[in-house]
Amino acid sequence: MIQRREAPVFAAVLAAGKGTRMRSNRAKVLHTICGVPMVNYAISALQPVGPEQILVVVGHQAGEVEEVLPPEVVPVLQEEQNGTGDAVRVALEAVDEEEGILLVVNGDGPLISESTLIELVERHRSAGVGATVLVAELEDATGLGRVMEDAGVVRIVEERDATEEEKEVRLVNLGLYAFELSEIRHALEMVGTENDQGEVYLTDALEIIGRKSRAVTFRLKNLQEANLVNDRAQLAVAEEIVRRHILDAHMRAGVTVRDPVSTHIEATVEIGRDTVVLPGTFLRGETKIGSDCVIGPSADLLDTVVGDGALVEHSVGRGAEVGAGASVGPFAYLRPGTVLGEVSKVGAYCELKNTQVGAGSKVPHLSYIGDAEIGEGVNLGAGTITANYDGKDKHRTTIEDGVFTGINTNLIAPITIGENAYLGAGSVVNKDIPAGKMAVGMPARVIRDAPGKASEDGAGGRSRGGKKKDQGH
Ligand code: UD1
Ligand code: CA
Repeated sequence: MIQRREAPVFAAVLAAGKGTRMRSNRAKVLHTICGVPMVNYAISALQPVGPEQILVVVGHQAGEVEEVLPPEVVPVLQEEQNGTGDAVRVALEAVDEEEGILLVVNGDGPLISESTLIELVERHRSAGVGATVLVAELEDATGLGRVMEDAGVVRIVEERDATEEEKEVRLVNLGLYAFELSEIRHALEMVGTENDQGEVYLTDALEIIGRKSRAVTFRLKNLQEANLVNDRAQLAVAEEIVRRHILDAHMRAGVTVRDPVSTHIEATVEIGRDTVVLPGTFLRGETKIGSDCVIGPSADLLDTVVGDGALVEHSVGRGAEVGAGASVGPFAYLRPGTVLGEVSKVGAYCELKNTQVGAGSKVPHLSYIGDAEIGEGVNLGAGTITANYDGKDKHRTTIEDGVFTGINTNLIAPITIGENAYLGAGSVVNKDIPAGKMAVGMPARVIRDAPGKASEDGAGGRSRGGKKKDQGH
């Protein structure tokens, strides 16, 4: 008996295939589109349909595929990839219910929308048939199953099994179906492997259901969604569409994107309003940009958090944090663990790694700073370098508030430069420098109090928090 109203929906995502035409060592569904593995697009579109369960049929590189799946889905293993019908059989083994709808989605259709899936299920419910299949009329039907519909029977012929006449048909199967659970269970018991590939075709089950309980087609409205991915050229087409969707969403939410053609923003990225993204910019992974920022041109930020009002131009960020109002670049490289305080500055040809820079501090030119803690209101002269690695171990450098270093200062870690100390140009510092002292030479030795310091204890003097004027180093 066919259940019409509010029967539960179970979803199966077919993702066990290798994707031979990708010519890849990686399973097809793991290839990313705007930073997200392809299979996750189908899953996201399914969630609003409200299925009881989302089963994902994995097989080729099952472990790797399982790793990218969201926790709420249930992976089921298809040991051998014997075809789409076999994949659905495997999924059905995980469904205990007798009555309900099985929504089948190919894992390689990343552009399918939630509204199409919702409508497919609604149509299926109201038609009261055994199966409903999503179809589209395409200019170029190459490689897809051709759809022939006649008196409640939907017959699909794979291109490789098609006659010349059947190949002329441009109505294609998009690999998306709503089945009555009892019907698909029964039909799959009867399907053989008499086809060019010797596989169990899900499409044969559709034909069997049609003869028994009628099947209908449902036409896709937005043909963009018909972009399935079988090779890398199709991957690029799909990515271009998704990329533009992401950009449009940011623009509608109040972000200015100067040149959408050259701007790449991954699906996971967040951007605040009134931020301007300039050409040639890549924002990837868990990157979060505040409001009123200027990002780019040519910023490449991965897993990087940028505070409100910051500026990042011609620079690379990897797992870094940029404080509100800070300025980065041009040509800075912020490596993992870099945390820039508010209104700080990292300028041209500077590389920072695992380093905290206090509020208002400046690393303006030609520096490598690794494994360091820099206080507030510090100014590092051009070419200040931390020697953090002695060939065996990494050591830390501590630069306290208000320190000033001259050009070409080398800091041999582990080392601490005390508050308000002043290092002369070209110093090679291999011992801690007390607060408020001036040191010069190689190795650097203390010669007197730092300029502008009157005290013997070395404290006080310059103000904290970067109020000092940029001295142009
Ligand atoms: C299938 C359809 C075809 C349709 C096309 C749309 C069949 C027989 N043909 O062909 O009519 O036009 O999809 O994309 O169904 N998969 C498994 N296990 C398997 C085989 C495949 O999980 O044993 C998965 C694949 O990972 C993929 C999906 O099923 O995500 C479709 O498989 P694929 O081999 O690409 O099917 P097509 O030959 O393209
Ligand atoms: Ca396919």
